[in-house]
Amino acid sequence: MAMLDVSDLHVAFPRGKSEVEALRGVNLTLEKGERLGVVGESGAGKSMLAFAILNLIAEPGRVSQGRIEFHGENLLDLSERDIRGIRGNRISMIFQDPMVTLNPVLTIGTQMVETLKAHRRITDAQAHRLCVEKLKQVAIPSAESRLDAYPHELSGGLRQRVVIAIALLTDPEVIIADEPTTALDVTIQAEIMALILKLCRDNDVALILITHDLGVVAEVTERIMIMYAGLCVETGSTRGIIRAPRHPYTAGLLKALPQFAGRGARLYQIPGSMPPITALPTGCAYHPRCDRATAECRSRIPPLEHGHACFHPLDQTEAAS
Ligand SMILES: Nc1ncnc2c1ncn2[C@@H]1O[C@H](COP(=O)(O)OP(=O)(O)OP(=O)(O)O)[C@@H](O)[C@H]1O
Ligand SMILES: [Mg+2]
Repeated sequence: MAMLDVSDLHVAFPRGKSEVEALRGVNLTLEKGERLGVVGESGAGKSMLAFAILNLIAEPGRVSQGRIEFHGENLLDLSERDIRGIRGNRISMIFQDPMVTLNPVLTIGTQMVETLKAHRRITDAQAHRLCVEKLKQVAIPSAESRLDAYPHELSGGLRQRVVIAIALLTDPEVIIADEPTTALDVTIQAEIMALILKLCRDNDVALILITHDLGVVAEVTERIMIMYAGLCVETGSTRGIIRAPRHPYTAGLLKALPQFAGRGARLYQIPGSMPPITALPTGCAYHPRCDRATAECRSRIPPLEHGHACFHPLDQTEAAS
């Protein structure tokens, strides 16, 4: 049994008298200490997946179908009180913008101690010691004195390090990181990503890394899930997918990576854009952008089989060329 097992997850939003779906039946498994990348363009449903796992889908949205089992227990059945024992405790989250997590009017120390005390019976002295230790783990210089700092007194990179330290405070089993470096200076993005990778490895923490950048997940994760218009369209080992993508969308994402384009060559861009959930095409949602699409693709949604949801997948040799 996988540690985290999401099956047939649907997230719906009301629209007029009916509903539209941001997730249309997504499956995901995560083993202890495993690192999974969730990749796709804007609007694919990546954040919805993260929010759903943490029971954070805001009204009027709702999980309309599916199961989210963590150690065999369906999180969707838990009361708000019980879910709080899991969210921010056994499953932590790192968001794109550190200021979503950090409260601007409280010192770093106060916020860290509050987080700890919400989940642990612990004395002030023990909490203080643990906070300093975690700040050191994320390589924050003069950790002790930073406890008295307010978030605005730190650079964006340091703030995200504090968020990572907070995520680690409760020794979680899973960290869900949603575009954790996108809001940061390009120069420090790689540093923060390397830090997340190291900390997950050192502490045997599983990671769900959400990003639109296939290049980043290639370096950090062991398994990949490619999302398109509320569905997983391809999944498998990172190595296998990078070497030989089967779904044309995955192949397009790969071709758009700078490391795949020749020097000085113009970067490839997949034509068109992701459809909004209010106007999904019939059949495979990717068909209007796909040069392999046939009548079948326009009429039926391809099931996810053998790791890809495509009626006309690239074959192994084609994909590798
Ligand atoms: N409150 C809402 N009401 C209706 N639709 C919503 C709402 N919030 C999100 N959506 C839709 O759900 C879909 C998935 O959104 P989501 O935020 O999960 O995308 P994403 O993959 O995280 O994109 P990004 O890379 O931009 O963060 C989008 O089409 C979005 O427009
Ligand atoms: Mg998002």
